[in-house]
Amino acid sequence: MKKVIIITSSYRDNGNSNTLAKAFKEGAESVGNQVEIISLKQNHIAPCIGCCYCQVHGECFMKDKLNEILNKIIACDVFVFASPTYYYSVNGNLKNFIDRTFAKFKKIKNKNFYYIGSSSDTSKASIDGAIQTVGGFLKCVENVKLKGIVYGIGLTDEGDTKYSKSLKESYEMGKNI
Ligand SMILES: Cc1cc2nc3c(=O)[nH]c(=O)nc-3n(C[C@H](O)[C@H](O)[C@H](O)COP(=O)(O)O)c2cc1C
Repeated sequence: MKKVIIITSSYRDNGNSNTLAKAFKEGAESVGNQVEIISLKQNHIAPCIGCCYCQVHGECFMKDKLNEILNKIIACDVFVFASPTYYYSVNGNLKNFIDRTFAKFKKIKNKNFYYIGSSSDTSKASIDGAIQTVGGFLKCVENVKLKGIVYGIGLTDEGDTKYSKSLKESYEMGKNI
């Protein structure tokens, strides 16, 4: 049994990346893994102010859910970021979260990682910018391996995922972590 944390960042509850994240969760749970989805809509994370308090004290001083979420990532086996594509990168919400991992990034190690992206654009390359951004984070953490990407391409409106092959792909990826 693996502990899995999925961080979702879209504000659209029934949006594409959230729906793909739910399918990933169902797939992972279908083979006995323990999965928690943490929504950054429900757990608002403010931007990093660059004060570096965390580098001295080991935790961010801000009283939001950041420290709690990071402790869950540190304790998990597998984690996942899910984001809509905004200007060919991750959305600002996920980027704020990534920046705030600075508080404990040295403790995030020896895990597998997956990325779920949704774009209107129908090319897989539309997710490349997001992967590059996430890759900057992966470069700074120890032995966290990018094991898979869900390409939710050609998806614009809430509900579009219903007709997309990426829904099944996300379920299968979750099942095979
Ligand atoms: C501010 C904004 C920027 C966007 N930028 C892009 C983009 O650069 N490329 C693209 O293919 N789609 C872009 N889109 C469309 C979304 O990526 C697409 O609708 C996605 O499926 C939304 O995911 P969600 O339902 O999980 O929020 C943009 C949408 C918004 C609102």
